[in-house]
Amino acid sequence: MINSDKIYDQSPPPQDFRREVLTGLTSEKKWLSPKLFYDAKGSKLFEEITRLEEYYPSRTEKWILDNYFREICSLFAEDSMLVELGAGDSSKTEQIIAQCNKISCYMPIDISKVTLADSLSKYRKKFPNLKIIPVCADYTKNLVLPYYKHSGNLGLFFLGSTIGNFEPHEAGDFLKECSEILDGRDFFIIGVDLKKDKETLEKAYNDSEEVTAKFNLNLITRIRHELNSDIEEDDFYHKAVYNEREGRIEMYLIAKRSFTVDISGSRVDFYEGEKVHTENSYKYSVDQFTDICKSSGLKKEKVFTDSESKFALFVLRTEKSN
Ligand code: AVI
Repeated sequence: MINSDKIYDQSPPPQDFRREVLTGLTSEKKWLSPKLFYDAKGSKLFEEITRLEEYYPSRTEKWILDNYFREICSLFAEDSMLVELGAGDSSKTEQIIAQCNKISCYMPIDISKVTLADSLSKYRKKFPNLKIIPVCADYTKNLVLPYYKHSGNLGLFFLGSTIGNFEPHEAGDFLKECSEILDGRDFFIIGVDLKKDKETLEKAYNDSEEVTAKFNLNLITRIRHELNSDIEEDDFYHKAVYNEREGRIEMYLIAKRSFTVDISGSRVDFYEGEKVHTENSYKYSVDQFTDICKSSGLKKEKVFTDSESKFALFVLRTEKSN
């Protein structure tokens, strides 16, 4: 029996920040995982990024959701569930939940218990008749949904183009896991950032207000504070480049000079101009992403896009017949 007043905690393992940082910074080609961006300050900076003029993905995805609201709503049967992976503050699906009365249960899944608790109290006030089952879990690993009895279908949502931060083979494995929780009546909506000109892409990740730079450099501040290090933000600068061959934005922190720092008792050397690779953000064509879906057991039913084809919402169904 699930108590909808509580967070259903699947106890995701805590991040081993020290191990992750030292593994990346002692590699021949230095790197840090983009998962490390999202401490409290990083999450706030990311929210700021989503409101920037140059960062088109969030606003374009929202436009598509608003514009195709009726079509999206028609995919739900009476007494259905909306499951949202990486729900964050739950603002991306709020409009759908507010206006689609066929949804009787909302299940936001997120790694941050604090974020889930905030959105739970907000949603409880706004939607008193909605069953809310927040799940604290790392949705990229062994996705298991708590049981909830409903007579309709399940709409799985993965918005924000977070799929672009997975390497393509990881994206395929993840989609396969998602396909396994769907049956024939269910559907999966995923937000995908599409390929476009280098200039638009590089502007989106090198914004003029330098919020993305602060977001990237916050990794250095985290290391300084959490790992008792003498590493300095001022010794690095941010750069994002579009690698056309790989079809991805690559974000780097670049050392301004040569120096050695102490990180939790380990010495780490940097040479002038050395790059620390902090993020890949893949951009797909509709055909490329359709192929990844196909090889993961998902078939494309529809693609909603904006007038400039900057961003796409894929509506997918499982290939399995049941
Ligand atoms: C979370 N993710 C989809 C963002 C992106 O566009 O890849 C993260 C981001 N990095 C810099 N700006 C935004």
